[in-house]
Amino acid sequence: MFKKILLSGIKPSGRPHIGNYFGAMKQFVEMQTAHHCFFMIADYHALNIIQDPKVMRENIINLAIDYLAIGIDPTQSILFKQSDVSAHTELAWIFDTIITVPYLERAHAYKDAVAKKKEASVGLFNYPVLMAADILLYDTDVVPVGADQKQHVEIARDIAEKFNRIYGETFKLPVAHIMKEVAVVPGIDGQKMSKSYGNTILLFAEDSDIEKLVMSIVTDSSAGVPKNVYEIHKLFRTESELAKLYEEKAGKYKELKDALTADMKKFIAPLREKRKAIAGDTARVLQILKDGGERARAIAQTKMEMVREKIGVKLY
Ligand code: TYM
Repeated sequence: MFKKILLSGIKPSGRPHIGNYFGAMKQFVEMQTAHHCFFMIADYHALNIIQDPKVMRENIINLAIDYLAIGIDPTQSILFKQSDVSAHTELAWIFDTIITVPYLERAHAYKDAVAKKKEASVGLFNYPVLMAADILLYDTDVVPVGADQKQHVEIARDIAEKFNRIYGETFKLPVAHIMKEVAVVPGIDGQKMSKSYGNTILLFAEDSDIEKLVMSIVTDSSAGVPKNVYEIHKLFRTESELAKLYEEKAGKYKELKDALTADMKKFIAPLREKRKAIAGDTARVLQILKDGGERARAIAQTKMEMVREKIGVKLY
């Protein structure tokens, strides 16, 4: 059977939160059987944020465990880290030579940094180019992501089109797969849940943290429905179930938060237990990553041979 190619990635810049899970990771698992999948640990992207080797090492291993705990099956899918396949950075350089500075200046992450008067590193500026290389190297058809990555997938398409125009048909044009209802999961303050906003609930949170975090959700309400509580609750129960509950408990914020706490605990507890079991065998996790790197590298190498041929540097 013909299967489409799927690739997605997560930065090991901290522990994944429920925004990462519902916005992207859940789709990884649901789409895993019907696609040829590549799931990547974007450690070179994380290098923009994590510059402590000990933390980087821990984060990479933790993220590999997280991927396995949510149900990524390494016998079906290729689970690997970006830094194991040097073709990613090589291809990013080649792309750097065909795209312009004004084009990349329009990227959201760079514009945000400039707006906040941060001195952006070249790595942050080039972030979308490396991501385009991640995607295009494997002839990816579909990229499941949250809404914040939509522009990056569009940039990958633009780069593929431009390369194909200059050098002839080489790269497939990928499409983003974004689930409308969970495209932007809100954090406990109602803004987008994000590691950098300090408003997250971790995917593998302990019960006591879940209790504390749910109680601290900001309750701005209309007609007795605390919007932020409801928006997070929607991730764990159907809207028809919630309609009844929120009608019965209108205005009773404490009770609604207790109900959310209970639902969240019920959902997270088995994932957390599964994670603990996997974390007990780090040697196996490292072996999975190593194997995944080898498999990804072989595929990437073939593609790079073709790219080098197209650009005229392959002489023997
Ligand atoms: P990262 O690590 O920031 O986030 C991982 C995934 O989680 C999604 N996400 C969310 N979805 C809904 N609501 C939220 N509040 C929320 N917060 C995060 C992100 O959209 C993402 O899908 N650049 C990527 C990593 C990457 C990548 C790639 C992804 C590198 N190369 C190639 C796809 C393909 C990133 O920073 O993800």
